[in-house]
Amino acid sequence: MILITSLILLSVCAALIILAVFLKKNAFDPTAEEITVDLDGVDSPVKILWISDLHIAVKSKNSMGKYSDDLLARVKWTQNSAGKWKNNWPDLINNSGADLVVFGGDMLDFGSLNNASVFRDGLNKLKIPYIYLRCDHDVMPTYISQLEADEAAKIRDGLCDNSDIITYEFEDFTVAGWNNSSFNITDDGLKKMQDICSNGKPVLLMTHVPLEPKQDTSLSEASRDIFQGRSLLWGYNDQYYWPEYNTRQFLDIIYADDSPVKEVFCGHLHFSWDGYLTDSVKQHVFAAAFEENYGIITVK
Ligand SMILES: [Fe+2]
Repeated sequence: MILITSLILLSVCAALIILAVFLKKNAFDPTAEEITVDLDGVDSPVKILWISDLHIAVKSKNSMGKYSDDLLARVKWTQNSAGKWKNNWPDLINNSGADLVVFGGDMLDFGSLNNASVFRDGLNKLKIPYIYLRCDHDVMPTYISQLEADEAAKIRDGLCDNSDIITYEFEDFTVAGWNNSSFNITDDGLKKMQDICSNGKPVLLMTHVPLEPKQDTSLSEASRDIFQGRSLLWGYNDQYYWPEYNTRQFLDIIYADDSPVKEVFCGHLHFSWDGYLTDSVKQHVFAAAFEENYGIITVK
């Protein structure tokens, strides 16, 4: 009798532990960073969601092989972001009342066919417009065969506009997204940015990789503390991303005293930071979505 009772108690305990692990793995309790942008002439407020650095990572037979230990470590590090993208994020987006969603890069942890397909399935559920800025991990074919990389690229590149600068026009301002911003901006991208910035409307710039503030060194210091001495910003003062000719002109537009760019939004660093690039242009870095962070930008 004692033995049976003990076995029953052990079974109940084991079931409770399994349930607790399951609930922890599938818990979804995201944190929103709320940012307000005041622009002249905006009559009715506009709401934009920012989601970056989700790092969707899915195991697949084709992706295992000699990289399987690395791959399993990546899947663990991303904290079930693929499952949360399947089960939670699309509902959050659809119920947010937002006018636009910006996916600010590193949505995939590596450019595999499976990761791209999981991301696409979630995008197909969305009922509001979105911009997808591919960058860094989205395009790196890590852990996969070249064939799978080519197939993944086809899916990924067909998800929305894949121009060098992706725009979304609101009545009183323009959202401009720098696509693939871990590389210097292309001729076409620079030309498009110059055109956008000469049309008289204020601009909000979205980029995966942040820019170096002119005076404030706190963002560089925070990056160096976390990323083994590397300041992962675009800039001239010992930054990881060195601007060549086109990118210098692009940065000149943003840093100009009369810049139409009013605020820059970015990700990449996985921590939150808020400050100024110049006396008049702000920059906000959003924390990572794989840790259930996202942004709500209200423009009014
Ligand atoms: Fe990231």
